[in-house]
Formats: sequence, C-alpha cells, structure tokens
Amino acid sequence: MEKKYFNKEYPTLLHGADYNPEQWVDTKEVWDEDMRLMKLANCNEMSVGIFSWSVLEPRENEYHFEIFDEILDKIYRNGGRVLLATPSGARPRWMAEKYPEVLRTNERGEKMLYGARHNHCLTSPYYRKKVREMNSLLAERYGKHPAVIGWHISNEYSGECFCPLCRDAFHKFLAKKYGNIDKLNFEWWNTFWSHRFSSFEQIDPPSPLGDSYSALYLDWQRFVTEQTASFLKNEVEAVRTHSNLPTTANFMQHYTQLNYWVMEKEIDAVSWDSYPDWHNDAVMDLPHTAADTAFVHDTYRAMKQKPFLLMESTPSLVNWRKYNKLKRPGIHKLASIQAVAHGSDSVQYFQWRKSRGSCEKFHGAVIDHNPTENTRVFREVREVGELIKKICCCAGTMPKVEVAVIFDTENEWALSKAQGFCRNNKKYYDTCFGFYFSMWKRGIAVDIIDANRPIDSYKLVIAPMLYMMKESTISRLVDYVKGGGTLVSTYMTGMVNENDLCYLNGIPASELSDVFGLVSEEIDTLYPQDSNFTVYKGEKYPLHEYCERIHTKGGAEVLARYGCDFYANEPMLVKNRYGEGTAYYFAARDTGELSDKIMSEISDELSLSRDFENLPYGVTSHSRECDGEKYVFVENYNDSPVTVESSIEMLDLETNEKVFGRVELKPYGIRVFLVKG
Ligand code: GLA
Ligand code: ZN
Repeated sequence: MEKKYFNKEYPTLLHGADYNPEQWVDTKEVWDEDMRLMKLANCNEMSVGIFSWSVLEPRENEYHFEIFDEILDKIYRNGGRVLLATPSGARPRWMAEKYPEVLRTNERGEKMLYGARHNHCLTSPYYRKKVREMNSLLAERYGKHPAVIGWHISNEYSGECFCPLCRDAFHKFLAKKYGNIDKLNFEWWNTFWSHRFSSFEQIDPPSPLGDSYSALYLDWQRFVTEQTASFLKNEVEAVRTHSNLPTTANFMQHYTQLNYWVMEKEIDAVSWDSYPDWHNDAVMDLPHTAADTAFVHDTYRAMKQKPFLLMESTPSLVNWRKYNKLKRPGIHKLASIQAVAHGSDSVQYFQWRKSRGSCEKFHGAVIDHNPTENTRVFREVREVGELIKKICCCAGTMPKVEVAVIFDTENEWALSKAQGFCRNNKKYYDTCFGFYFSMWKRGIAVDIIDANRPIDSYKLVIAPMLYMMKESTISRLVDYVKGGGTLVSTYMTGMVNENDLCYLNGIPASELSDVFGLVSEEIDTLYPQDSNFTVYKGEKYPLHEYCERIHTKGGAEVLARYGCDFYANEPMLVKNRYGEGTAYYFAARDTGELSDKIMSEISDELSLSRDFENLPYGVTSHSRECDGEKYVFVENYNDSPVTVESSIEMLDLETNEKVFGRVELKPYGIRVFLVKG
C-alpha cells in the first residue's frame, strides 16, 4: 500500500501553529525572534493569513502583499513551510459598509451589524466574487512559492443566514429537490394543521417566529450545508486558477450543524481544531475525555480514508470556557501524539504568539506575553516537536480498521427534532460513544462513518439509534449482514425515511425486520427516577431511559429479557443469524456495563485485531502501518504509572531502546514503538 501524504513533496509530519505576524507589524523585530523560537520549538510549518483581509485589502481593490512576501520568504529561509490561508473567515469594515448584502440576517429576520467573524451571507454574489478575486490573487502570487505546501481554506465554516438572497436560494433548492409543490406537501405531511403550500416561494425558513417542524428543518439543514459547500467550492476553484497544491478546511469538534460528510468532497484533506475539556472530572474522567477526542479523530480520518491534520489545539489552556484550566504536565504531549496515533499527520496550535489585545489575548499560545523560551509550555511544545521528528516516518500511514460505528449527521438532525421519546435529550451521540468506548479501551481501531459510506470491508458495524434511514441505507445494511457481516443496533432503528415520514408496516423497516429477527411494537420512555433490569449469563444489569417492546420472529435467539414492569420476560437483547452474518439488537438502553460485556464477547468471537490484551483502565493503544512497518502508540490516561505486556519485540522511537514483555508507562505517558515485519 502506498503512503497517503498531504503533500508528496513534503512527506513528513507537520508541527506548527496559526501564525499571525500582521498583528506585530509595528514591532517587526518580533518576526526575527519568532524565527529563532520556531526552530527552537522544532516547528517546521506555520498556518499564515487566516484573518488577514483588512491588511491585504485595506480599501476596495487596493492590495498589499508586502507583509506576506516578507514573511513567507523568512519562514522558508529558516527551514519552515506554510499552509497559506484564504481570509474569508472575517471581512474588512469597508466591505460591510459598501455592500451590506455580505452581512448575515438572523432567524428572526434581523440584519446583523458588522463585527465578529464567520458571519458572511452564504449566498451573497458580491462576497463570493470578492472571495474568488482574493483567492486567485493569493494563488497567483504564492501558489509556486517554495514555502507554501497547501491551502488552508477559510476558517471553521459555520452558521446560517436568513436574508432574502438565502431565502430565494432555499426555494430554488426545494424546487430542484421536489419538482412540484404537491410532492413537497406530501413529503412534509403538510395537510397536518392545514399547512399545505401552493408555491415554493411561500415557504419561510425555520424560525422561532414561525415553524421549525422536522421535515422543514431537515431540508433547511441540507440547504445550509449545500450553500456552505458551494461557498467552499467557489474558494477552491479560485485557488485552482493558479495552484495545484492540496487544500484543507478546518472542521470543529462535535459540530453537527453542517454535514461535514458533504463538505469534505470539496477539499483534499480534512483538518480539525481540537480543544478537549481535560481535567473536568465532574463531567468526564480523563479516559473518557481522551476517547471523546479519539472519536473525532477517527471520524476525520475515516472521512477520506487517509491521514487528517490536527490544525489547531492549545498548548496550555483556552480562554472561552467558563473555567479555563491548565493542561497538567504531560497532557500536552499525550494529547498531541494521541492525534498522530489516530492518523493525524500534524500537530498544530492556535496560536503561535499570544495576541497583545482583543478577545483572545489570554488564550494559550506557544509564546507568551513575556516572550521567552523559559516557560513550561514552551518546553513541552519543544519536547513534542522532538518526538515528532523522531516518528515523522509514520506520516502517510494508516491504521488497519475492522470496525465501524455509524454516527450520522442527518440522523442527528432528525432525532433532535423528533417530538416524542425523551424529547429534548435523545443522547444519540452518547449512545454511539458508549459503544465506541468499549472498542477504544480495548485498543481496537474504529472508523466513525456516516450512513452513506461503504461498509463491506468491516467485520463489525455498530449502528445505534439509526432512526432515520434511506431505502438505500436499509438495503446496504441488509446486504452487509447477508454477506457475512456482524451488525449491532438498538431501539429506534429504521423508523422514518429521509424526509422523516414514518415507515409503515412495521419497524425496523422492510427487510431489516428479518435481519434482526424482530418487530417492534412500542417504545417506553422512562422517567429519570425509573429503571428496569435484565439478567445476562447470571449477572444482573440495569436498564434505563428507553425500553422498546419487541416480538421476535423466525429463529431469533433471545439473549436477555426484561426483568420487571408489565413487559417483564419479554425479549430485550436479541441475536439473529441472517444469510451468512449475524445481527444483534438492544431493545433497551443499558447503563454501559451490559453493552460493554456484549461488545467484548463479539470482539473475541470476531478476533478483532489489537496490539495488547487486557489493557488496564485508562490505557489504550493504536497503531498505523504501511509496507511491513507498524507504528504502535501506547497511551496512559492515568495520573499514575502503569505496565502493559508486549508479546513481541518493539523499538521505542523516542529512546531507541528495544522493549519486550513489560512496557512501562509514566503518569500521562505515551510511547511510540516501531515493529517491523
Ligand atoms: C477556533 C478558531 C481560532 C481560535 C480558536 C481559539 O478554533 O479557529 O481562530 O479562535 O478557536 O480556541
Ligand atoms: Zn444570506
């Protein structure tokens, strides 16, 4: 297998930061000091220009590239490379003044004032034209600059706009999708409450002042994604007029307002900004925080089936949480290399040097306001850089993955709007995460995918609460099990189609009912103080929140039954052989212990590959490989030392020592090994 590099001409791991030299233009000696410190910190790359529009074009059509000319040359002379940003994430004031259409309108129809960022109208023809001009000028000037290795397109696309331009575009989107208004009236079930429309133009986007029922909301979300993707496409096409360098856009953690699975098609590599809430034990212990982050890493790697980039992280703390706690010593290295373990080909920070003023001046950075290398943070960054140099040959490699968890953005939208069940707290992510955590703690690699991705290569597919399913998803899951796959699902599976119309004639819909060997009759949502229980292999396990009443059919095997209430003794956990494969169905939500037990049994039965057996709690291991070289990462999320057993000889790439048998890990320690053959 070939290595999958971000840029073949620069085939290594990147270590760097958002670099904003334009903030220091009045004290240019800072730039030279930056160069010295970058080398000292073992940084080889900087993301430049992310919010620089007002410097690049201070007045309409008056362009200034001098700062960038100088900085890019300087970075290159000092051995560094650059991801050059397009500046569309924030606009200069003159533009809003002269062309107010670039400003957003909120869901109440109020036109927003100039300010903040990430707030352009998604549709504005003028803004798209200006972005096109700016990006092609940048590409023309720097597309062949030896420092530049790729394009950082915009910054953290997000949000929506309700202006007349967007409203009109929404109507066109609906007309294209449905063809005629009667079709929309049917799919949205508009006869209910007499909501039938006679033209697309009558439809208001979702608003607290009007409607926001699920079918309207789903199509609006799809529209906003499509507009954002086409905005991104417009940016990329402009860059492409003069440059073939790879493009990326930085996505966010757990951001489901846009469907990133649609947007990723416009870029060459996915990158993301990771700010885990470390040490917030009242919410999550450290292993869960780590796994919650790993879930996102595994999403963005799976999205393109190639390494992603960690575009931003903080070397110490953020400034935007209610409480902003420092990363304890060791966590920075552990979290940074964790990203590499999951397939990142970079470790980057926001930002290189703390701003002197404005709202992010207290956000952690590599260089503090007292700009010296004698800080804990700088030393830790430097240490990460040293390790990155030693393991840089893992760039371009990928893990071997046998398990997929389906976490589908459109399903998240549909569940969030579904009136019923536990109305405001369905816990879709938490449920997917629970299954993921079982794999994570065993060191079993997982891809997080959406419901449209191919699944045939996996030994195990876990698809919890896949309430909304297209017909095509149903048939792919059916074929998967028929062909020998193992599928695990739960209550609320296959209930509605992509427009949130309920499937008639039984759920799980169509042939899925045969796959699982059951039909669901009704779902009981329990009050928080209620519980049920089940007994599995002589052990009692609590159940809570959802208990679905199901009837088995065919030869389905009941593994566990409800312990109490009027449905006591009815089936709760079902296993069914279908075609060459097997399907499991959890009709109720357990508190984690039972599903973990079942996942452990399934992992053993399928001999899912992992590098270590019996990992202690809070310790995990992930690997990447290519052509007989395997990089094994062992991570300890405990504040105490631990030991794991290795049955093969491995080379520690940091210390250069060979290890066999006992592998010691320091508190919050991480080790990277090379295994050959
Ligand atoms: C985001 C943004 C950055 C910065 C950081 C601060 O990730 O992309 O510009 O605001 O947050 O945490
Ligand atoms: Zn708009």
